[in-house]
Amino acid sequence: MKRLRVAVYPGDGIGPEVTAQAVRVLRAVEERQKQWSLELVEFPWGFDYYRQTGRVVAEDYLDVLRPFDAILLGALGWPAELPDHVTLAPLVTLRQRFDQYACVRPAKLYPGLKSVLVDKGPAEIDLVVLRENSEGEYVDNGGRVRRGTPDEYAVQTAVHTRRGIERILRFGFDMARSRRRRLTMVTKSNAQRHAYVLWDDVLAELAPRFPDVESDKQHADAAAMNLVRRPESFDVIVASNLFGDILTDLAGAIAGGLGLAPSTNTNPQRTFPSMFEPVHGSAPDIAGRGIANPIAAVLSAAMMLDWLGLADAAAAIRRAVETTLAAGHKTPDLGGKLSTAEMGDRIIEGLA
Ligand code: NAD
Ligand code: IPM
Ligand code: MN
Repeated sequence: MKRLRVAVYPGDGIGPEVTAQAVRVLRAVEERQKQWSLELVEFPWGFDYYRQTGRVVAEDYLDVLRPFDAILLGALGWPAELPDHVTLAPLVTLRQRFDQYACVRPAKLYPGLKSVLVDKGPAEIDLVVLRENSEGEYVDNGGRVRRGTPDEYAVQTAVHTRRGIERILRFGFDMARSRRRRLTMVTKSNAQRHAYVLWDDVLAELAPRFPDVESDKQHADAAAMNLVRRPESFDVIVASNLFGDILTDLAGAIAGGLGLAPSTNTNPQRTFPSMFEPVHGSAPDIAGRGIANPIAAVLSAAMMLDWLGLADAAAAIRRAVETTLAAGHKTPDLGGKLSTAEMGDRIIEGLA
């Protein structure tokens, strides 16, 4: 029997609420399939842990997580009490230190749901944003000088490597081949002529090697506009770390809302565990009320099963989510009345 060890890091706010439902769904599929087993080890890191220990995560958290097959993360951040750059630092560090360079964020409007975009339905909204997740604008590279004086300044220098750009574009081309064979690279090379022109150069070199994929490039401002105006023109979007972050909140919003948007942080070489989490954050505005939509977390868990080689189990979860939504079961973010746990119940009932 295949045995998988998964580290669970629920985090803050609605993180533990939605993760609990993802875990219930995982257990329900495990129980039904009986061909594999999951060992889940939960780590109580986050703001509460900080209150007790003065640290957001255990000092050796990277060593602790390293041996797991995967990491399932909820959401981090409790900005009213602790600055985000402190609570969120382990997340960004994990992605970089575990070389989880491919952040896959599908945005697909499920039947039965309405997009905020009038006249756009499931046929028009089905894309994937592939976000470079290991370098770019998120590199911890800079400093503040003359602190606290009127002459203070800060520098934060992005790092874009040829190797990093090439590997994420290759990943994107391969992904496009399994979809509608269209890749759009998003940069801002009209304004930033060093880093993003390197992206342009690498795309120009790679594109002829994938003649079966239609590729183009857009500046980030135009891409944001086009995601709203004609989302059907996108299949696979490849973007740098920061642009990918911004575009995936937008893509999530047009595909029914952030409560539905799953994400991977993939280490394609499998030298480190990959990490799976919703696109959304800890949503302090609704935390503790039991009304968060768990679907983004549940679909992230499905992406984890896919990555672990359990494609049937992943597909069963996706089908259950699809039938649940098509039947009109909705949490308040979708205009319904179900609680987080009731949505978990409906999905489990929907499992074949
Ligand atoms: P957010 O994604 O937490 O929330 C944005 C809006 O979407 C809120 O109105 C929230 O109620 C709603 N929302 C999000 N997820 C939902 C769900 N599952 N069901 C129903 N509604 C949902 O973004 P924010 O408010 O800008 O950030 C809150 C905190 O989360 C901050 O500390 C931020 O830094 C952090 N954050 C963490 C992650 C992460 O852990 N990966 C991602 C984004 C933001
Ligand atoms: C995300 C989040 C994170 C990011 C933050 C919380 C550091 O917004 O996963 O989209 O910017 O990557
Ligand atoms: Mn984000």
